[in-house]
Amino acid sequence: MNPTPFIERRHRVLSQIGRDGIAVLFAAPGQRRSNDTEFPYRQDSYFHYLTGFGEPGAVLILDGATQKSILFCRDKDELDEIWNGFRYGPEAAQEAFGFDEAQSNSRWPHYLSQALLNKKTLYALWGLYPERDREVMEKWHNVQQSAGRRIQVNSHAPENLADLAALLDPMRLVKDEYEIGLIKKAGEISALAHIRAMQKTRAGVGELQIEAEILYEFMRHGARFPSYNSIVAGGKNACCLHYVANQDMLRDGDLLLIDAGAEYGFYAGDITRTFPVNGRFSAAQKDVYEIVLAANEAVIAAVKPGADWGGIHLLALRILVRGLTDLGLLQGTVDGNIESQAYQRFYMHGLGHWIGLDVHDVGKRWQNGKPLLLQPGMCTTVEPGLYIAAADDIPEAFRNIGIRIEDNILVTADGCENYTALAPKKVADIEDVMHG
Ligand code: GLY
Ligand code: MN
Ligand code: MN
Repeated sequence: MNPTPFIERRHRVLSQIGRDGIAVLFAAPGQRRSNDTEFPYRQDSYFHYLTGFGEPGAVLILDGATQKSILFCRDKDELDEIWNGFRYGPEAAQEAFGFDEAQSNSRWPHYLSQALLNKKTLYALWGLYPERDREVMEKWHNVQQSAGRRIQVNSHAPENLADLAALLDPMRLVKDEYEIGLIKKAGEISALAHIRAMQKTRAGVGELQIEAEILYEFMRHGARFPSYNSIVAGGKNACCLHYVANQDMLRDGDLLLIDAGAEYGFYAGDITRTFPVNGRFSAAQKDVYEIVLAANEAVIAAVKPGADWGGIHLLALRILVRGLTDLGLLQGTVDGNIESQAYQRFYMHGLGHWIGLDVHDVGKRWQNGKPLLLQPGMCTTVEPGLYIAAADDIPEAFRNIGIRIEDNILVTADGCENYTALAPKKVADIEDVMHG
């Protein structure tokens, strides 16, 4: 691992918190799955962002006064390492990850107590791990009490408790070169898995088998985990937005909606493709598909620095609502259906979200009631969809059609790059892959 991007990020935080600030953050706790087995460990995204250090039980303190970063981590332990694998220990961790100092994790409370004295602001990710809040607050309280008893006039504990996320989220929102390399790789692996799924799909195959093909493709390209639970939704299951049961058989004549993405080097991919189980779209399926595709493509064409997501959202909405109105699925005018939000019956989710270390990544989309303007280095999904659940007033041919087409887009200096474009989405291209 190259520690340089992580060291640079710590420097940026240290310079922002200043000489009278201190920040503390914690590694993710392990999660028990059942009895004595655990879920696979995944480091907290913020902690990873500032350290690259993948072990549980670690604490990072950024001390503004000394402008130093101090890692507290598990000590070496021969017996535990026989059972549970390698751990760095403070000495090797300091060297490998470029910390100014590293100590045993039993020492962080003592260190924090000392370092809190005479600071003005204590930054933490309050609420993220509430049991850690309690420990930090206890230390702060003790320092505040003892500082009040000291003779020195200037002896005090921080009077401000500040949100470290307010500082880190804008940093995470704009990806650096190192991150862009990883996120593009996550997008590429995710796209390859969608291609494989298209190739393996036919009537009589189970949704679960297709999920297995997707996970296989992720893992064989070095992605250890999916970045969220894969949605493999045949027919009516596609009208359930978070369908992850993946237990049904695929049927001739149905569509299959797959929303699946690989996590690579901690960065998420998040692609949705929708295609016919038998490899050929029916006329009604194609009609709806072309509307969603038009919205997806128009939005991607509009993504560039300075663009406003509010306007882009409206652009997609107009295409979707015009399509629904032209098909007779909505009555009245496009403007009327937008005004009344009648479209919500068929399009009930957002157009996209930031993507990065988390699939739904941090960072504001709106500030003071206004949309944030796009800028180079931001990564967003673009994911219009239409979901037509069966109902008496829906013509037979349109019932149970659920379609979403989702790509991952990097805003560049002069426009954008769709780095998940490798996954086919034009009708002819999908049919080629499935029949190829
Ligand atoms: N896969 C989650 C989403 O599309 O937002
Ligand atoms: Mn998404
Ligand atoms: Mn998705």
